[in-house]
Amino acid sequence: MTESEAIRARHAVRNYTTKPLSPAVIDGLKEEIEQCNRLGQLHIQLVTENEEAFKSIIPLFGRFKNVKNYIALAAKKQGGFYVECGYYGARLMVKAQQAGLNSCWVAMQ
Ligand SMILES: Cc1cc2nc3c(=O)[nH]c(=O)nc-3n(C[C@H](O)[C@H](O)[C@H](O)COP(=O)(O)O)c2cc1C
Repeated sequence: MTESEAIRARHAVRNYTTKPLSPAVIDGLKEEIEQCNRLGQLHIQLVTENEEAFKSIIPLFGRFKNVKNYIALAAKKQGGFYVECGYYGARLMVKAQQAGLNSCWVAMQ
């Protein structure tokens, strides 16, 4: 799937399957995250097979089901970190779509 096809196909999804991510998908995402962190001076992290965040912290709105894998957009509060997180977060969502994964932006309360 090309980047353009992924952008057109992507839409917010809140209900997920319980199928674990394959090692190849995890490696691909981690590689992309490393690049984003380097270029944007960010601390983005991929979390896999962990339900805790979506049990203990409540999303701003929306009902989410079976969220075990997520990308935490983390950064030092310096410079244009909000913009950087938005830009690289969008890049990672496209990458995830290309890997056959759905996604949704979530702001935690
Ligand atoms: C920064 C940001 C935070 C968001 N937080 C939430 C959220 O907490 N809960 C939720 O259901 N949708 C949230 N959304 C909205 C969805 O992720 C999604 O963008 C929206 O439903 C539009 O769908 P689309 O991504 O298919 O265009 C957020 C969007 C953004 C950009």
